[in-house]
Amino acid sequence: MKWPLLSALVLAAQQLGAFSYNVPQGSPGFYHGNSSAAVTFDAHSVFLDNKRLFVFGGEFHPWRAPSGKQFWRDVFEKMKAAGFNTVSVYFHWGISTAKQGTLDFNFYRSHTDVYEIAKDLGILVIVRAGPYVNAETNAGGFPGWLTNVPALARTNQTGYTNAWMPYITSVAKFVEPFQYPNGPVIAIQSENEFAPTSSTGPGRSEYMQLVENTYRANGLTKIPITHNDPRISGRFVSGLGAVDLYTWDEYPNGFDCSNPTVWDQVDTTLIAKHKKIDPDVMWASAEFQGGSFDPWGGSGYDACYQLLNDQFANVFYKNNYAAQTAYQSLYMTYGGTNWGNLAEPTVYTSYDYGAPIREDRTLTGKYSEIKLQAYFLHASTDFVMSTITSSDTSLSDKGQVFTTALSSPNGAGFYVIRQNDNAITSRTNFQLKVNTTAGVVTVPQFGGTNSLEGRESKIFVTNYTFGSNKLTYSTAEVMTWTSIDNTDVIVLYALSGHTIEAIIPTTTANVTLSGSTSITAKASKGSVIITGTPSGVTTLSFGSTKIIVFDKATALTWWNPRLTGAGKTPYDVAPDVPSVLIGGPYLVRNATQVGSGLALTGDLNVTTTLDVIASTTIKSITWNGKSLKLSRSAFGSLRATLPFGVKTPAVPNLKDATWLCEDSLPEIKDGFDDSSWVTANKTSTLRPLQPTGGKFVLYADEYGFHYGNTIARGHFTGNATGVKLNVQGGLNFGYSAWLNNKFLGSNQGTNQHAAGGGADQTTDTWNFTAADVKPGDNVVTVVVDTTGLNEDQEVDDLFKTPRGVRGYQLLGGSDFSVWKVQGNLGGEDGPDTTRGPLNEGGLFFERQGAHLPGFPATNWSSSATDSTCSPTVGLTAAGIKAYRTTFNLNFPVNSDIPIALNFTRTPASSYRTIIYINGWQFGRFSSKDGPQTLFPLPEGILNHQGSNELLVSIWSLDAHGAKIADIELVNTANIDSSQPLIGTVPSPGFTELRP
Ligand code: GAL
Repeated sequence: MKWPLLSALVLAAQQLGAFSYNVPQGSPGFYHGNSSAAVTFDAHSVFLDNKRLFVFGGEFHPWRAPSGKQFWRDVFEKMKAAGFNTVSVYFHWGISTAKQGTLDFNFYRSHTDVYEIAKDLGILVIVRAGPYVNAETNAGGFPGWLTNVPALARTNQTGYTNAWMPYITSVAKFVEPFQYPNGPVIAIQSENEFAPTSSTGPGRSEYMQLVENTYRANGLTKIPITHNDPRISGRFVSGLGAVDLYTWDEYPNGFDCSNPTVWDQVDTTLIAKHKKIDPDVMWASAEFQGGSFDPWGGSGYDACYQLLNDQFANVFYKNNYAAQTAYQSLYMTYGGTNWGNLAEPTVYTSYDYGAPIREDRTLTGKYSEIKLQAYFLHASTDFVMSTITSSDTSLSDKGQVFTTALSSPNGAGFYVIRQNDNAITSRTNFQLKVNTTAGVVTVPQFGGTNSLEGRESKIFVTNYTFGSNKLTYSTAEVMTWTSIDNTDVIVLYALSGHTIEAIIPTTTANVTLSGSTSITAKASKGSVIITGTPSGVTTLSFGSTKIIVFDKATALTWWNPRLTGAGKTPYDVAPDVPSVLIGGPYLVRNATQVGSGLALTGDLNVTTTLDVIASTTIKSITWNGKSLKLSRSAFGSLRATLPFGVKTPAVPNLKDATWLCEDSLPEIKDGFDDSSWVTANKTSTLRPLQPTGGKFVLYADEYGFHYGNTIARGHFTGNATGVKLNVQGGLNFGYSAWLNNKFLGSNQGTNQHAAGGGADQTTDTWNFTAADVKPGDNVVTVVVDTTGLNEDQEVDDLFKTPRGVRGYQLLGGSDFSVWKVQGNLGGEDGPDTTRGPLNEGGLFFERQGAHLPGFPATNWSSSATDSTCSPTVGLTAAGIKAYRTTFNLNFPVNSDIPIALNFTRTPASSYRTIIYINGWQFGRFSSKDGPQTLFPLPEGILNHQGSNELLVSIWSLDAHGAKIADIELVNTANIDSSQPLIGTVPSPGFTELRP
């Protein structure tokens, strides 16, 4: 069907009122004349099936969670339970290709699995596949081999085009069958935070356009292409490379978590920017701050969580809604782990991000705050249609109370209220003028005042429709509403101690109040007037209307799942889709009604009182399959006790474990044979950054070693008095150098938090004594711990910055005759295609495969006979040692018990540690920088019901040695969970990988 005909039909249907929600007449409805579009939008919102949708999204990176499908499903279920209807997903090109010409989308690299799970759960997906993604990941998602492609990345230069084209073509093919409505994918992003062609940046828009053309040419014709603009300056709204749907990103509190109570102001320019950039197109945010990353030497993720806590979510996200943002994705909603070598230099292993769902998948107070907002937006279909009528302090009697008033074509009013200065942390009491069907009213009318705490935002509503009822106004916030047994049930809340007022017209004079009496109601002049200060739960019933008033702390513990099977799409709203209200549990995943029974599934963290407000046809309830003994609560809910059944597990004690240990630096021993190593024979490089000395180019990437630790060995004969080394490894890197087996010294660059921003390279002169230099072959061995390849934010090929020895000079007359370099086993042809190219580095124990399950450590020393063979005893000199142990876990099936490895940090001694669990690298630790000392070992990678093999290495950068003062396994939560076991991921062991 051609667009004009379809458009005419749509408009005709709208005029006939055939759709549940009014598509505004004359609105574009479709974008760019694309007649095959299944996902459309106008000035207010996205449409799916001609229904408006507030896209409430959260960012998740499957590749930061290699535990696989059941793990992803758990995260998606948690998002869905909190009202998220969309998951935004970056994909990482680099993890799918070890070598140019190869592509691998199996396992945690899968697109299909992500879309299948989302489809099954009824959650939508925004795909963001780059090619460049940034994301604080190694090379911003570029493959390591791209550092060797002599073309400016992120431009239309041929070498780069040839590199990304097969990848983006594959992505398109994966997405094509999953485009809405056949699948969950509603949008695809091209590139990331990109800028168009300029006089100093040629070929960018051309490249952007080519990515978009590639998507379209491979069948992505039903969904809009988007882009995220960090400066909100309208890039790619028009011109070459223009996208269908302009989206922006913003991180208003920044990324420095060291002052976690210091906030920036909310962005008051959003409304004006929308007007300026694209007033005819809905306002959409591809990324809005959900937390913060944290650098080496940073404050740690608990501080980031504090900076970006539930109050932040309350004030800043509501400011977005006030600016008519109708598409918002919180970056990150679940952060995950920079396992292997996924990190780029400014971040460490954990990517917890202080997100609403923490790295161990536990839920936070911010998650609950977001749940209240998502429920409200889902239930308030008038909201996305509303336009701003005023945005200033004029509606309040207090100058510091800022209100954005919006009104919908149906006459609903929304007042988004906050303090006008985020530095205010105390309560402000105020009156507010609101526009009601009875004219302008100053509320509260019946005594008391409204209150706003410091750093609180509230949404008052007027003429608010729920089912066949309307609130004339409410100064309590709306959590959600639903229809149960033909009764419209609305849930209101406010902080305990805050006065609320709500008025609802009714023809019935009899109001039944149950539960807390801190709220009262009286019928007057055809309305019910509700006043008081919420405390616990009050329910008020009259006619076919029920009002539930919670104090906010109580509201945060309630859930509103839609009944499974009643509506498959995530965007249907009550009364189309029946739902129930459930109070108490830590998590409610699912509610299904079968006949007179209600089956609930969910998770608990303590013994819990369950309250259910559901149809009177419900006579029995099960929780995770077990029948419950029901009673009635004072406020009329069905009530039961949910016993918490998981005992605190016994976690093996690593201090008493038997450790096997072995030296992991044979490279400094006399006679070490490096003849099979790659000879660094290049004498020139096409990279922007040239060598700073020496005949040969020693950059590890030039020889195919892109990830993890690398080693360079320079051979010379004859006299030498020292060596000058320029070593570059990324911020917070480290290296050590030896002449033969004599330790020369180490340097760890500068902490990036140091004054001046730190350095990612150092130049040192190491002097030899005459006695150190032997007749015949001498070897300088340089071991480098790189912190990853840089990102490429500025389109300057920064990700090609050399890693390893950047330049060298042998002092005293001779020169090196040959340099040998080494990195991860096999370089770009590494054997472990399951765990993928970013898992391993090039230390001896890694090349040997000692980190792999089943490694025969038969000739290693044992702590059973040598008490020094333990990481808590460590090394007595500079060097590298690997320690292995095994432990068993036997956790009950109905439990979610996240385990982490906990270190005691000793900043005074300089050492670096790599952690491998069952062959997977799940931690990199630097005693100097920290801050991470707790390393989650996620279920799936960790076997919760069997044996596990742990390897930790200690590289002492100090001449006097180093040890890990304490090392233990801890459980970071103890959840009685309904989810099936995550199950251990099938991954190969030593025999398969080092045959
Ligand atoms: C954004 C970028 C993301 C990520 C984020 C910070 O600007 O698009 O990829 O880097 O910043 O975590």
